[in-house]
Amino acid sequence: MKSLMYRSPRFYTLTLRVIHGKELERRYGEVLKIAGKRRIFEVGCGPALLGRFVGRERYSGMELNKRFVRYARKRGYNCVMGDIFRDNFPEAEVGVAVDILHHITPREKELIDRMRAHFETVIVVEPVSAFNVRMPGPVRKLWDSLFGDADGINSLENRKRWQFTEKELMEYMKGLGAEKVYVLGKDLISVFRGLKDPDR
Ligand SMILES: C[S@@+](CC[C@H](N)C(=O)[O-])C[C@H]1O[C@@H](n2cnc3c(N)ncnc32)[C@H](O)[C@@H]1O
Repeated sequence: MKSLMYRSPRFYTLTLRVIHGKELERRYGEVLKIAGKRRIFEVGCGPALLGRFVGRERYSGMELNKRFVRYARKRGYNCVMGDIFRDNFPEAEVGVAVDILHHITPREKELIDRMRAHFETVIVVEPVSAFNVRMPGPVRKLWDSLFGDADGINSLENRKRWQFTEKELMEYMKGLGAEKVYVLGKDLISVFRGLKDPDR
């Protein structure tokens, strides 16, 4: 079951613009700042919003949602249909995960380790304490399936476990091996050194 956002790339994009406002540019701009001129690969890239900031030549992404893949490809982005836990990542120097860990939990360490093995640098962007939702179970389920994070891939049972305060999330990301963790607006930015880092 997919919520409205995951049925429509246009609705997804609009929702993100409403939720984040100007912060949206700031979060993607920060990714660009860290990546510099290097090539970027985005896991769970959605409709490739980050691609608009990076530019088509340096951007690629992987996504399991067919509609998102079609939408991104139609706009000229190199977006492949694939499972980020199974399929091979393409050549790039920087691996990026924006708003994805709270979807794929409890497999976040597996994903980060997989990305670190493949890239020079891994950048993770996660909203700060946005998921400490207090709602009765059935209401949460209904909300999730209509307007929430129901992506049709990852279960609500698993996603419900993603509950952190800002401080807890910072500690958690450090525990996963992040070299740098800081708050930027409503997001937490974590930077990991990958095994392909030439300065290692
Ligand atoms: C909140 S969206 C984030 C999209 C994008 N990174 C952005 O910043 O707009 C999370 C995306 O991860 C995708 N996803 C979840 N599990 C996946 C998996 N195992 N393989 C590929 N994509 C996955 C979902 O389809 C969804 O589009």
